[in-house]
Parts: sequence; C-alpha cells; structure tokens
Amino acid sequence: MSEKNADLVEIRHLKQYFPVNVGLFRTKPLKAVDDVTFSIKRGETLGLVGESGCGKTTVGRTILNLYKPTSGEIIYDGKPVKTKEDIKEFRKKATMVFQDPYSSLDPRMTVADIIGEPLDVHKMYDSKEQRRDRILELMSYVGLNSEHASRYAHEFSGGQRQRIGIARSLAFNPEFIVCDEPVSALDVSIQAQVINMFDDLQDKLGLTYLFIAHDLLVVRHISDRIAVMYLGKMVELADAKEIYHHPQHPYSKSLLSAVPVPDPKEARANKRIVLSGDIPSPLNAPSGCPFRTRCPHATAQCSESMPELKEISSGHFAACHIL
Ligand SMILES: Nc1ncnc2c1ncn2[C@@H]1O[C@H](COP(=O)(O)OP(=O)(O)O)[C@@H](O)[C@H]1O
Ligand code: SF4
Ligand SMILES: [Mg+2]
Repeated sequence: MSEKNADLVEIRHLKQYFPVNVGLFRTKPLKAVDDVTFSIKRGETLGLVGESGCGKTTVGRTILNLYKPTSGEIIYDGKPVKTKEDIKEFRKKATMVFQDPYSSLDPRMTVADIIGEPLDVHKMYDSKEQRRDRILELMSYVGLNSEHASRYAHEFSGGQRQRIGIARSLAFNPEFIVCDEPVSALDVSIQAQVINMFDDLQDKLGLTYLFIAHDLLVVRHISDRIAVMYLGKMVELADAKEIYHHPQHPYSKSLLSAVPVPDPKEARANKRIVLSGDIPSPLNAPSGCPFRTRCPHATAQCSESMPELKEISSGHFAACHIL
C-alpha cells in the first residue's frame, strides 16, 4: 500500500468519444470526455460538478473501465490499469454508487440477500455465521439495524435504499468509490444525512471518493478539492473553499453565482450571472474554448484556440485565455 498523501487515482488525457449515427452509414464522435487530467489522493474526496450532460458520469464509468477509454491513461496506486488482469485487480478495489436508489436494487430481494450477494459471488466467508455477521456489520456501517435484514427493498424509502446500495458496495472492501450523484434523487431534507454518512464512512474505512454532483452546494462540504466540467472538458480545479469563494473561470463564476448563500456573512461580492443560450450539443462543440458561445468575456482568440489548463495560483488550475 502506498503512503498517505500519495495519488491513489490518476487520469491523464482521458478521452471518451462515442460514435453516434448521424446519417445512413455515417457516424460522428460525440466527445463526452475530451482530454481530462486529474488525480485523487488516498483518503481524499474530489468533487466533480457541471451541468447535466457535461460528461461527469462518463468520467466515472471510464475510470472504472465500464467503458474502454478512447485514449488516455488510468493509473491506480502507481500502476497503469490497461490489461484485462489489471482491470480485474482494479475492480476488486474500486466501485460505483449510483444515482437512482429505486432502479438499482431488486425490490423483491431482502436486505440481507442484497448485501450478501457480493459476499456469495466472491466467496467471502467460511461459515453461515460469518456471512451473517458480515452482513450485520455492513448494515451497521450505513445506519441500518438487524431488524431491517429480512425486509424487502421496496419497503424502504429512497434514503434507506441508498444506504442499502452503499452497504452492498462496501461488501468487498473497496478503497475507491465513484459516487455518481448519490443524493440527487433524494428529498432535500435527507440529502445532508446521506452525505454525512458518506463522510463518516470515509473516516472509518479510509475511503477515497470521486463525488459527482450537478449542484455545488452538495459537494461543497464533503470535497477536499472540486473540479468543474463543461462540455467534456475540465475548466477549473481547486481546493473546495478556494473555488467556492474565489472561482476564476467565467463558467465556474456563473455556476457559483446561482448557488444561494446560506449564511449572509458569507455573501459574495459577485452578483448573479445569468448565462445566455443553452449548453451546445457535444456533437457540435464550438471551436476553441467550449464555453465561448455563452461567455460574457469571449474574444476572437477564444474561437481560435482551446485554452490550456494552467496553474493560476498554488494548486488552483483554470483553462481560460484571460486568466
Ligand atoms: N453510451 C453513450 N453513448 C452515446 N452517448 C453517450 C453515452 N453516454 C453518455 N453519452 C453522451 O455523453 C454526454 C455526457 O453524458 P454524461 O457523462 O452522462 O453527462 P453527465 O453525467 O454530466 O450528465 C451526453 O451528451 C450524453 O448524451
Ligand atoms: S477562454 Fe474565452 S470564452 Fe473561454 S472562458 Fe475564457 S474568456 Fe470565456
Ligand atoms: Mg450523470
């Protein structure tokens, strides 16, 4: 195992292009993820935010090799994940928690069966007692008690189903979890509880998260750093507090200006920025900077070349010609 503070997950120049039919026998690449580079340290949470369709889920699925990358590298614990054997090993350590707690669990299975299934598949016990104890342990991790074990998934609320799904994901002791909008489908009133549970689990089990959300408020507290995506590209990456209080990229500024400020003492100087136009289709992404069709600061240079992601202050990266 590598030391703390070392990168656990690294992706370099990751691309995921989906061929899409655009006519008879004609396809065009849909650039869902286009040259994304970042790393996540062991024990860290990287928040990944951006509007629906910007490529967040595809980043998560491609990292886990649920999709074969079009190009780019995935490095886990210092080793490239490339061959079938690498992927098999990696899958024992990494998993994904999905957005929809209603469709991801079989409603006719009991909680014990849902959580026990991965234990059965991977033969992770020597006796029935050991299996039962492990199921109860996993349930306790997510705040469920032994009375819940024999009940069916359909008897539970969304928040509790999400807990069952997480207990199941934890069955094979993963180190790294892609949390794909795990609270977006839940009632706002219980989102904070479920996020706190993720936070507690991280402390208890030393987990590393890629935590995806379209809402910045959701990831703000749980994230150490936050990356912002727009149309398949990463446009900004910084410490969570830094990006929340001092966003630099025009797109992040507009995203953040739409977030209500809960504490008036924290009120930001910048006013709400309303973007004109819709997010373009990734099939017809603008030339140069992908944000230029909606950016209030766009210049001629912005349509000519894609700005590089550069370090604008220590640990704060942004891709914009005027920064
Ligand atoms: N399997 C797929 N085949 C073709 N296009 C896809 C596929 N998965 C996602 N896309 C497209 O890729 C883009 C990014 O999607 P996604 O990663 O789901 O975004 P997000 O999670 O940020 O909402 C969207 O335009 C989506 O329609
Ligand atoms: S590169 Fe140009 S269009 Fe893109 S965000 Fe910066 S100013 Fe706006
Ligand atoms: Mg998604």
